[in-house]
Amino acid sequence: MLVVIKKNYDEMSEEAAKMVADLIRRKPNCVLGFSTGSTPLGLYKELIRMHKEEGLDFSKVTTFNLDEYVGVPPEHPQSYAYFMWENLFKHINVDPRYVHIPHGMAQDIEEFCEWYEERIKHAGGIDLQILGIGANGHIAFNEPGSSLGSRTRIKTLDELTKRDNLRFFTNPEEVPKYAITMGVGTIMDSKALLLLANGKNKADAIKATVEGPITALYPATIVQMHRKAFIICDEEAASELSRKYSGYLS
Ligand code: GLP
Repeated sequence: MLVVIKKNYDEMSEEAAKMVADLIRRKPNCVLGFSTGSTPLGLYKELIRMHKEEGLDFSKVTTFNLDEYVGVPPEHPQSYAYFMWENLFKHINVDPRYVHIPHGMAQDIEEFCEWYEERIKHAGGIDLQILGIGANGHIAFNEPGSSLGSRTRIKTLDELTKRDNLRFFTNPEEVPKYAITMGVGTIMDSKALLLLANGKNKADAIKATVEGPITALYPATIVQMHRKAFIICDEEAASELSRKYSGYLS
């Protein structure tokens, strides 16, 4: 695991964008795993800039998103599909046929999840999966207690996650209770992982992820077992680490 500590959010985002752009230039038909949340917004902004100013070409890239709320249609402003189109896809030349986002309105969720896993396999697996981290240590919507071998499936959202999400909805009843999420096992099958974290409120999560014992109660800790995992964070998110120098291998 390579931990890269950057001064601030902008530098973290630029470093992450460089890594993604390098992969696209080396392998134009690569498979990228995307995540939502406020953390990757700077990365997406930088990728858009690279597309517009440097001609970074997404036309052959295949994408898979980590998760989506159940019962929230793609056109809903709080859906992850809407988030991805607004904050990245509509600004770059990605081919919509190659974009995959779990469908929160799927009639048969189990069947959909199997299909999603199949599509990832069919695409040749995910080359680079971008991840954020929840304050409770979740990755995607693999909440504490998630099986470390889990595949794409429906998950009940944690109370803390629902509380965190309250700010996006007008009333508490609207906050989704379930999500479709890639499993921990699905994420671990990616050829490389890029976990991003910034800000003081992620410091405990980063400490646990990098230095804590591996446990299903803190799903992000499984990243320690990946053969090619990168964590890029800012100084605030790295502030609780006991061994701290930028670019250290653990
Ligand atoms: C949601 C997503 C996660 C994301 C997390 C962190 O829970 N399902 O994939 O990592 O939010 O969000 P933020 O980056 O806003 O802290």
